[in-house]
Amino acid sequence: MRYLSGIQPSGTVHLGNYFGAMRRHIERQEGNECFYFIADYHALTTIRNPEEMRKNVVDVALDYLAIGLDPEKAVFFRQSDVPQVVELAWVLSTLAPMGLLSRCHSFKDKVAKNVEASLGLFAYPVLMAADILIYDSEKVPVGKDQKQHLEVTRDIAQTFNRVYGKSLVVPEEEIESATAVVPGVDGQKMSKSYGNTIEMFASEKQLKKSTGRIVTDSKGVEESKDPVGNTVYELYSLMASAEERAEMERRFRAGGFGYGDAKATLREKILEYFAPYRERREALARDSDKVFDILRDGAERARLVAGKTLERVYERVGLR
Ligand code: TRP
Repeated sequence: MRYLSGIQPSGTVHLGNYFGAMRRHIERQEGNECFYFIADYHALTTIRNPEEMRKNVVDVALDYLAIGLDPEKAVFFRQSDVPQVVELAWVLSTLAPMGLLSRCHSFKDKVAKNVEASLGLFAYPVLMAADILIYDSEKVPVGKDQKQHLEVTRDIAQTFNRVYGKSLVVPEEEIESATAVVPGVDGQKMSKSYGNTIEMFASEKQLKKSTGRIVTDSKGVEESKDPVGNTVYELYSLMASAEERAEMERRFRAGGFGYGDAKATLREKILEYFAPYRERREALARDSDKVFDILRDGAERARLVAGKTLERVYERVGLR
Protein backbone atom coordinates (compact mmCIF):
# COMPACT_ATOMS: atom_id res chain seq x y z
CA MET A 1 0.00 0.00 0.00
CA ARG A 2 1.31 3.46 -0.78
CA TYR A 3 0.94 5.86 2.13
CA LEU A 4 1.57 9.56 2.10
CA SER A 5 1.65 12.10 4.85
CA GLY A 6 2.66 15.74 5.11
CA ILE A 7 4.28 16.89 8.31
CA GLN A 8 3.93 20.48 9.45
CA PRO A 9 7.24 22.01 10.51
CA SER A 10 5.64 23.63 13.52
CA GLY A 11 8.49 23.68 16.02
CA THR A 12 8.83 21.34 18.96
CA VAL A 13 7.03 18.03 19.12
CA HIS A 14 4.98 16.94 22.11
CA LEU A 15 3.65 13.69 23.52
CA GLY A 16 0.39 14.16 21.66
CA ASN A 17 2.22 14.30 18.33
CA TYR A 18 4.26 11.25 19.19
CA PHE A 19 1.52 8.97 20.49
CA GLY A 20 -0.98 10.33 17.98
CA ALA A 21 0.69 10.22 14.58
CA MET A 22 4.47 10.00 14.68
CA ARG A 23 4.71 6.54 16.15
CA ARG A 24 2.29 5.15 13.57
CA HIS A 25 4.30 6.72 10.75
CA ILE A 26 7.28 4.70 11.91
CA GLU A 27 5.41 1.42 12.37
CA ARG A 28 3.86 1.71 8.93
CA GLN A 29 7.25 1.76 7.22
CA GLU A 30 7.31 -2.02 7.48
CA GLY A 31 5.52 -3.62 4.57
CA ASN A 32 4.29 -0.41 2.95
CA GLU A 33 5.61 2.18 0.59
CA CYS A 34 5.69 5.45 2.53
CA PHE A 35 6.13 8.97 1.28
CA TYR A 36 6.61 11.44 4.14
CA PHE A 37 7.40 15.05 3.49
CA ILE A 38 7.91 18.24 5.44
CA ALA A 39 5.15 20.59 4.32
CA ASP A 40 7.15 23.77 4.04
CA TYR A 41 5.07 25.30 1.22
CA HIS A 42 2.05 24.91 3.47
CA ALA A 43 3.91 26.33 6.45
CA LEU A 44 4.51 29.49 4.45
CA THR A 45 0.84 30.33 4.97
CA THR A 46 1.58 30.91 8.66
CA ILE A 47 5.35 31.33 9.14
CA ARG A 48 6.81 34.55 7.84
CA ASN A 49 10.20 34.47 9.46
CA PRO A 50 12.85 32.80 7.24
CA GLU A 51 15.06 31.85 10.18
CA GLU A 52 12.15 30.20 11.93
CA MET A 53 11.22 28.37 8.74
CA ARG A 54 14.74 26.97 8.27
CA LYS A 55 15.03 26.00 11.91
CA ASN A 56 11.64 24.29 12.05
CA VAL A 57 12.35 22.25 8.94
CA VAL A 58 15.63 20.94 10.37
CA ASP A 59 14.03 20.32 13.76
CA VAL A 60 11.20 18.26 12.42
CA ALA A 61 13.57 16.27 10.19
CA LEU A 62 15.69 15.53 13.27
CA ASP A 63 12.64 14.56 15.30
CA TYR A 64 11.49 12.02 12.74
CA LEU A 65 14.90 10.57 12.04
CA ALA A 66 15.50 10.28 15.79
CA ILE A 67 12.36 8.28 16.43
CA GLY A 68 13.19 5.82 13.69
CA LEU A 69 12.16 7.14 10.32
CA ASP A 70 14.35 5.09 8.05
CA PRO A 71 15.24 6.86 4.79
CA GLU A 72 16.03 3.49 3.24
CA LYS A 73 12.47 2.41 3.81
CA ALA A 74 10.43 5.60 3.51
CA VAL A 75 10.85 8.38 0.97
CA PHE A 76 11.50 11.35 3.25
CA PHE A 77 11.80 14.79 1.71
CA ARG A 78 11.01 18.44 1.84
CA GLN A 79 7.92 19.50 -0.08
CA SER A 80 9.54 22.46 -1.82
CA ASP A 81 12.30 20.22 -3.19
CA VAL A 82 9.65 18.83 -5.54
CA PRO A 83 8.26 22.05 -7.06
CA GLN A 84 6.26 20.01 -9.59
CA VAL A 85 3.63 19.82 -6.90
CA VAL A 86 2.90 23.52 -7.36
CA GLU A 87 2.46 23.01 -11.10
CA LEU A 88 -0.06 20.28 -10.43
CA ALA A 89 -1.78 22.46 -7.83
CA TRP A 90 -2.40 25.06 -10.53
CA VAL A 91 -4.03 22.56 -12.83
CA LEU A 92 -6.15 21.20 -10.00
CA SER A 93 -7.15 24.68 -8.89
CA THR A 94 -8.99 25.09 -12.18
CA LEU A 95 -11.24 22.21 -11.12
CA ALA A 96 -11.59 23.06 -7.43
CA PRO A 97 -15.04 24.45 -6.62
CA MET A 98 -14.97 27.77 -4.76
CA GLY A 99 -18.00 26.71 -2.73
CA LEU A 100 -16.28 23.62 -1.38
CA LEU A 101 -13.15 25.56 -0.48
CA SER A 102 -15.19 28.29 1.19
CA ARG A 103 -16.73 25.74 3.51
CA CYS A 104 -13.40 24.43 4.81
CA HIS A 105 -13.28 24.76 8.61
CA SER A 106 -9.54 24.92 8.71
CA PHE A 107 -9.49 28.12 6.66
CA LYS A 108 -12.22 29.71 8.74
CA ASP A 109 -10.59 28.66 12.02
CA LYS A 110 -7.23 30.08 11.04
CA VAL A 111 -8.75 33.36 9.95
CA ALA A 112 -10.65 33.49 13.25
CA LYS A 113 -7.26 33.12 14.95
CA ASN A 114 -5.97 36.13 13.04
CA VAL A 115 -3.97 34.33 10.37
CA GLU A 116 -4.17 36.57 7.33
CA ALA A 117 -6.77 35.37 4.85
CA SER A 118 -4.34 35.10 1.94
CA LEU A 119 -5.03 33.37 -1.35
CA GLY A 120 -2.46 30.75 -0.31
CA LEU A 121 -4.32 29.99 2.89
CA PHE A 122 -7.57 29.69 0.96
CA ALA A 123 -5.95 27.41 -1.63
CA TYR A 124 -4.22 25.31 1.05
CA PRO A 125 -6.48 22.28 0.41
CA VAL A 126 -5.72 22.40 -3.33
CA LEU A 127 -1.99 22.21 -2.69
CA MET A 128 -2.69 19.38 -0.30
CA ALA A 129 -4.66 17.61 -3.02
CA ALA A 130 -1.67 18.03 -5.33
CA ASP A 131 0.63 16.57 -2.64
CA ILE A 132 -1.53 13.51 -2.40
CA LEU A 133 -2.38 13.01 -6.06
CA ILE A 134 1.09 13.61 -7.48
CA TYR A 135 2.45 10.51 -5.71
CA ASP A 136 -0.52 8.27 -6.64
CA SER A 137 -1.11 7.87 -2.91
CA GLU A 138 -3.58 5.20 -1.86
CA LYS A 139 -3.85 5.90 1.86
CA VAL A 140 -3.51 9.17 3.69
CA PRO A 141 -3.32 8.97 7.47
CA VAL A 142 -4.62 12.20 8.95
CA GLY A 143 -6.10 13.56 12.13
CA LYS A 144 -9.79 14.42 12.26
CA ASP A 145 -9.02 18.07 11.58
CA GLN A 146 -7.79 17.14 8.10
CA LYS A 147 -10.75 14.96 7.11
CA GLN A 148 -12.40 17.74 5.15
CA HIS A 149 -9.22 18.36 3.18
CA LEU A 150 -9.23 14.73 2.17
CA GLU A 151 -12.77 15.16 0.92
CA VAL A 152 -11.63 18.09 -1.19
CA THR A 153 -8.83 15.93 -2.58
CA ARG A 154 -11.19 13.12 -3.49
CA ASP A 155 -13.63 15.55 -5.06
CA ILE A 156 -10.93 17.10 -7.23
CA ALA A 157 -9.53 13.71 -8.26
CA GLN A 158 -12.95 12.42 -9.20
CA THR A 159 -13.73 15.55 -11.19
CA PHE A 160 -10.41 15.26 -13.01
CA ASN A 161 -11.08 11.62 -13.86
CA ARG A 162 -14.57 12.43 -15.09
CA VAL A 163 -13.51 15.35 -17.25
CA TYR A 164 -10.24 14.01 -18.64
CA GLY A 165 -10.54 10.25 -18.28
CA LYS A 166 -9.28 8.14 -15.43
CA SER A 167 -5.76 9.28 -14.63
CA LEU A 168 -5.56 9.99 -10.90
CA VAL A 169 -5.69 7.57 -7.99
CA VAL A 170 -8.58 8.51 -5.67
CA PRO A 171 -7.06 8.16 -2.19
CA GLU A 172 -8.61 6.73 0.95
CA GLU A 173 -8.32 8.50 4.25
CA GLU A 174 -7.13 6.73 7.36
CA ILE A 175 -8.40 8.68 10.33
CA GLU A 176 -6.08 8.41 13.26
CA SER A 177 -8.76 8.36 15.92
CA ALA A 178 -8.08 4.77 16.93
CA THR A 179 -4.68 5.76 18.26
CA ALA A 180 -4.33 7.00 21.81
CA VAL A 181 -6.00 10.22 22.79
CA VAL A 182 -3.31 12.01 24.71
CA PRO A 183 -4.52 14.44 27.36
CA GLY A 184 -2.71 17.72 27.83
CA VAL A 185 -1.85 19.24 31.21
CA ASP A 186 -5.38 20.66 31.48
CA GLY A 187 -7.02 17.32 30.65
CA GLN A 188 -8.19 18.42 27.19
CA LYS A 189 -6.64 16.84 24.10
CA MET A 190 -2.94 17.76 23.97
CA SER A 191 -2.45 20.35 21.27
CA LYS A 192 -0.08 23.18 20.59
CA SER A 193 -3.00 25.51 19.99
CA TYR A 194 -4.36 24.87 23.49
CA GLY A 195 -0.99 25.60 25.10
CA ASN A 196 -1.26 22.42 27.18
CA THR A 197 1.61 20.36 25.82
CA ILE A 198 4.41 18.34 27.33
CA GLU A 199 7.33 18.32 24.96
CA MET A 200 8.91 15.08 23.95
CA PHE A 201 12.50 16.24 24.18
CA ALA A 202 12.06 18.58 27.14
CA SER A 203 14.87 18.81 29.71
CA GLU A 204 14.25 17.71 33.28
CA LYS A 205 13.80 21.31 34.28
CA GLN A 206 11.26 22.00 31.53
CA LEU A 207 9.45 18.81 32.45
CA LYS A 208 9.19 19.92 36.06
CA LYS A 209 7.40 22.97 34.82
CA SER A 210 5.05 21.27 32.37
CA THR A 211 4.17 18.29 34.55
CA GLY A 212 3.73 20.69 37.46
CA ARG A 213 0.88 22.27 35.52
CA ILE A 214 -1.07 19.01 35.18
CA VAL A 215 -4.49 19.62 36.66
CA THR A 216 -5.56 17.12 39.34
CA ASP A 217 -8.28 17.03 41.95
CA SER A 218 -7.45 18.46 45.37
CA LYS A 219 -7.21 15.23 47.36
CA GLY A 220 -4.52 15.19 50.04
CA VAL A 221 -1.53 12.87 50.02
CA GLU A 222 -3.07 10.32 52.36
CA GLU A 223 -6.37 9.99 50.57
CA SER A 224 -7.16 7.15 48.20
CA LYS A 225 -7.37 8.34 44.58
CA ASP A 226 -9.09 7.05 41.47
CA PRO A 227 -6.63 6.59 38.61
CA VAL A 228 -9.43 6.58 36.03
CA GLY A 229 -9.58 9.89 34.20
CA ASN A 230 -6.50 11.05 36.10
CA THR A 231 -4.21 12.80 33.62
CA VAL A 232 -0.98 11.86 35.39
CA TYR A 233 -1.94 8.20 35.32
CA GLU A 234 -3.14 8.35 31.72
CA LEU A 235 0.08 9.91 30.49
CA TYR A 236 2.16 7.47 32.51
CA SER A 237 0.17 4.58 31.02
CA LEU A 238 1.28 5.53 27.51
CA MET A 239 4.90 4.78 28.39
CA ALA A 240 4.80 2.35 31.32
CA SER A 241 4.80 -1.44 31.19
CA ALA A 242 1.70 -3.30 32.37
CA GLU A 243 3.35 -3.99 35.74
CA GLU A 244 4.38 -0.37 36.23
CA ARG A 245 0.90 0.74 35.37
CA ALA A 246 -0.66 -1.69 37.85
CA GLU A 247 1.80 -0.51 40.49
CA MET A 248 0.86 3.14 40.04
CA GLU A 249 -2.80 2.24 40.12
CA ARG A 250 -2.30 0.31 43.35
CA ARG A 251 -0.42 3.18 44.96
CA PHE A 252 -3.10 5.70 43.98
CA ARG A 253 -5.86 3.55 45.44
CA ALA A 254 -3.92 2.75 48.60
CA GLY A 255 -3.44 6.41 49.60
CA GLY A 256 -0.17 7.91 50.82
CA PHE A 257 0.80 8.61 47.20
CA GLY A 258 0.38 12.28 46.42
CA TYR A 259 0.12 13.97 43.03
CA GLY A 260 3.58 15.43 43.53
CA ASP A 261 5.05 11.92 43.82
CA ALA A 262 3.02 10.74 40.86
CA LYS A 263 4.26 13.62 38.73
CA ALA A 264 7.86 12.84 39.65
CA THR A 265 7.33 9.22 38.60
CA LEU A 266 5.82 10.42 35.34
CA ARG A 267 8.78 12.73 34.69
CA GLU A 268 11.30 9.96 35.17
CA LYS A 269 9.34 7.77 32.82
CA ILE A 270 9.25 10.43 30.09
CA LEU A 271 12.99 10.97 30.36
CA GLU A 272 13.70 7.25 30.32
CA TYR A 273 11.31 6.46 27.48
CA PHE A 274 12.65 9.09 25.11
CA ALA A 275 16.32 8.80 26.13
CA PRO A 276 17.41 6.65 23.17
CA TYR A 277 15.66 9.00 20.75
CA ARG A 278 17.17 12.02 22.43
CA GLU A 279 20.66 10.55 22.05
CA ARG A 280 20.10 9.79 18.40
CA ARG A 281 18.71 13.27 17.86
CA GLU A 282 21.69 14.94 19.49
CA ALA A 283 24.13 12.90 17.43
CA LEU A 284 22.31 13.77 14.21
CA ALA A 285 22.04 17.42 15.11
CA ARG A 286 25.83 17.56 15.17
CA ASP A 287 25.87 16.24 11.62
CA SER A 288 23.37 18.45 9.82
CA ASP A 289 24.98 17.76 6.43
CA LYS A 290 23.77 14.24 6.78
CA VAL A 291 20.21 15.41 7.40
CA PHE A 292 20.30 17.57 4.27
CA ASP A 293 21.73 14.65 2.27
CA ILE A 294 18.88 12.44 3.40
CA LEU A 295 16.27 15.02 2.41
CA ARG A 296 17.94 15.65 -0.94
CA ASP A 297 18.09 11.98 -1.71
CA GLY A 298 14.43 11.57 -0.75
CA ALA A 299 13.46 14.47 -2.99
CA GLU A 300 15.24 12.86 -5.91
CA ARG A 301 13.22 9.69 -5.50
CA ALA A 302 10.01 11.69 -5.02
CA ARG A 303 10.65 13.78 -8.15
CA LEU A 304 10.77 10.67 -10.31
CA VAL A 305 7.23 9.77 -9.30
CA ALA A 306 5.95 13.35 -9.35
CA GLY A 307 7.41 14.03 -12.80
CA LYS A 308 5.59 11.05 -14.27
CA THR A 309 2.23 12.05 -12.82
CA LEU A 310 2.65 15.59 -14.01
CA GLU A 311 3.48 14.44 -17.54
CA ARG A 312 0.40 12.28 -17.54
CA VAL A 313 -1.73 15.20 -16.35
CA TYR A 314 -0.26 17.68 -18.86
CA GLU A 315 -0.91 15.19 -21.62
CA ARG A 316 -4.49 14.62 -20.49
CA VAL A 317 -5.42 18.27 -20.23
CA GLY A 318 -3.74 19.18 -23.51
CA LEU A 319 -0.78 21.15 -22.24
CA ARG A 320 1.41 18.66 -24.13
N1 TRP B 1 -2.42 19.88 6.30
C1 TRP B 1 -1.69 18.85 6.99
C2 TRP B 1 -1.65 19.18 8.49
O1 TRP B 1 -1.91 20.31 8.87
C3 TRP B 1 -0.28 18.72 6.46
C4 TRP B 1 -0.30 18.25 5.06
C5 TRP B 1 0.06 18.96 3.94
C6 TRP B 1 -0.69 16.97 4.61
N2 TRP B 1 -0.06 18.21 2.83
C7 TRP B 1 -0.52 16.98 3.20
C8 TRP B 1 -1.16 15.82 5.26
C9 TRP B 1 -0.85 15.85 2.45
C10 TRP B 1 -1.48 14.70 4.50
C11 TRP B 1 -1.33 14.73 3.10
O2 TRP B 1 -1.35 18.33 9.28
